[in-house]
Formats: sequence, C-alpha cells, structure tokens
Amino acid sequence: MSSWCVSGSGSIDNHLAGFVTVGGDGYLDQIVVAPEAWGSGVAAELMAQAKRLSANGLKLRVNVDNARAIGFCRKHGFTDAGNDLNPHSGAAVLIMCWPVAESASADPAAAPARG
Ligand SMILES: CC(C)(COP(=O)(O)OP(=O)(O)OC[C@H]1O[C@@H](n2cnc3c(N)ncnc32)[C@H](O)[C@@H]1OP(=O)(O)O)[C@@H](O)C(=O)NCCC(=O)NCCS
Repeated sequence: MSSWCVSGSGSIDNHLAGFVTVGGDGYLDQIVVAPEAWGSGVAAELMAQAKRLSANGLKLRVNVDNARAIGFCRKHGFTDAGNDLNPHSGAAVLIMCWPVAESASADPAAAPARG
C-alpha cells in the first residue's frame, strides 16, 4: 500500500491538506481532503499522484450518495464499473475505474467502501 500526503497547500499552510492511499493492485482505498481545501486543487494533485503510483489503472468504491466524490472521479476520467454493497455497513456503493471500466467482479471487489 502506498500513501501520499499533501500538506501546506492552498489556504491551510503547515497543516495536512489531504492524503491518498493506493494498493499494489491499483485499488484506491482512500482519498480525503480537508473540507477547507475542497475545490482548491489539492484533490487533483492527490489524484495525479495516485495515477503515477498505479499507471496501469485504478479502481475505487464510493457511496452512491456521495455526489461530490462521484463528480470528482468522473472529472478525473473514472467510469462506472458496477454496483455493490459495503459488506460492513450495507450501504450501496458505485465501483469506478480509471482509465477503462472493467468487470465489477474483478479483484479487489471484496474491499469495503470508504467514501
Ligand atoms: C472527494 C474529494 C477528495 C474531492 O475533492 P474536492 O476538492 O472536493 O474536488 P473538486 O472540487 O476538485 O471537484 C469536485 C467536483 O465534483 C462535482 N461536484 C461538486 N459538488 C457536486 C454535487 N453536489 N453533485 C454532483 N457533482 C458535484 C463538480 O464537478 C466538481 O468539480 P468542478 O467544481 O470543477 O466542476 C473531497 O470532496 C473529499 O475529501 N471528500 C470527503 C472524502 C470522500 O468522500 N472521499 C472519496 C471517497 S472515494
């Protein structure tokens, strides 16, 4: 698992602005930006780093009611690749892939959604 953090960016100098974690299998487990840095470009910076860490492709799960995160992912080239349920919470999640949608049954399908 690789992690990448951005700090001191945007308007929150010297504070952690956000982080992204990507598994060796290309599963983007978490991308989180502090609310005060939303829309600042920090998230785009983190997504660019995730793509560098896994240039062959990325997959993630996002809660279907997380419209902002889904919009962010689509803006960065992710496409819908199926629906699933979070095994812990039972919440409906959307599977998204970059650059090309693939089967929702492919690994790491068993991982829980974080967003
Ligand atoms: C997801 C996250 C990293 C995105 O970062 P951000 O700085 O908010 O993203 P941006 O502002 O660059 O892009 C958001 C895009 O979503 C879209 N969007 C925003 N609000 C939206 C809404 N209510 N409905 C639909 N789309 C929306 C827009 O297209 C927007 O881009 P634009 O303003 O350039 O048009 C950040 O919001 C976050 O940390 N959220 C909490 C954690 C989380 O949900 N992580 C994702 C789990 S997979």
